[in-house]
Amino acid sequence: MSKQEVILSGIRPTGRLHYGNYFGAVKHFIRLQEEGHCCYYFIADYHALTTVTERTDFFRQTLDMLRTYVACGLDPAKSVIYRQSDLTCTAELSLLLGMMTNIGLLERGTTYKDKMAKLAETPNVEGNPLSYGLLGYPVLMASDILIVRADKVPVGDDQRQHVEMAMDIAQKFNYRFGETLKIPAPVSREALRLPGLDGTSKMGKSDNNTLDLLDDPATVKRKISGVQTTTDPLPLDCESDEPEMVIPRLPGALGILYRLLDLLAPKEVYLDFVGKYRRGEKFYGSLKQAVTKYVSEFNAPIIERFNDPSNNDEMIKDFLRENVKRVAPVALETVESVREAIGIGRSLYRI
Ligand code: TRP
Repeated sequence: MSKQEVILSGIRPTGRLHYGNYFGAVKHFIRLQEEGHCCYYFIADYHALTTVTERTDFFRQTLDMLRTYVACGLDPAKSVIYRQSDLTCTAELSLLLGMMTNIGLLERGTTYKDKMAKLAETPNVEGNPLSYGLLGYPVLMASDILIVRADKVPVGDDQRQHVEMAMDIAQKFNYRFGETLKIPAPVSREALRLPGLDGTSKMGKSDNNTLDLLDDPATVKRKISGVQTTTDPLPLDCESDEPEMVIPRLPGALGILYRLLDLLAPKEVYLDFVGKYRRGEKFYGSLKQAVTKYVSEFNAPIIERFNDPSNNDEMIKDFLRENVKRVAPVALETVESVREAIGIGRSLYRI
């Protein structure tokens, strides 16, 4: 086994877990866990406050999401799974790093820039109504990463810039105050971006185009039947049958159906359907039937473990409480060494 590394990633508590989340992130989290690395996976509840609108079932969503993660194979006995807000040192580090982070850097953040651009098109907006927390999102995220001294931060493409900002913040800190923070390695590009069921480029909760891990067979059937497959097969213009060659060349929403086969079905099944496409056969009905079957079979054990009586709220709260204790000593040491490096000195009192 390769050297044990410190892995960290954060997950926004958005309720249900869909196939895009699973194949883009969770599957890698589980692989890293099984390889025996020191894995920290946390629920980014502070970060969620920058966008949350519905607060009444916020914690309920966090619990259900964790039950789904456990059902997928994330194991609180192997990985350290905690809530961001329970590791209070992160907030302290964020405050300290905020003192040395230029607003210029933060204004280059794509999330912030996109929201600013939208505002510019909205009539009657006075001043800048975006929150301090939104602008500071990358500082908090840098704190999550740096506080545990992470070597690697597996994230999807949309979070790469944030990780790069964390590297930048840490490098500047070390340059100014001496070697204190561990610089994480750049993110590798192995995450898969799954298209939506509507054929758009990304599966996302807000776009209402997701296939969910807890979808029962009837729901899977309805969703897969609803995928638009009106285009007749067109010449593929590539000789290879490999998914990376074929899938991007398929029109509209066909790509997601083939991607699901590639991920879930035996290779012969995938190849058989590539052959049918090339020959221009009428086969969309049987393709959808096959995809429906493999998706339902994939979901079945996850649904079963999700509903297992042992996978309950108390169990989740217990491991959240116990696991945060496993990360707290490292976090405390990081924030204390940062205080020392900056010059205010180690704390004299902590509750
Ligand atoms: N911003 C990330 C997202 O939206 C979640 C996150 C918060 C995170 N802190 C992190 C991811 C630290 C990796 C490392 O998905």
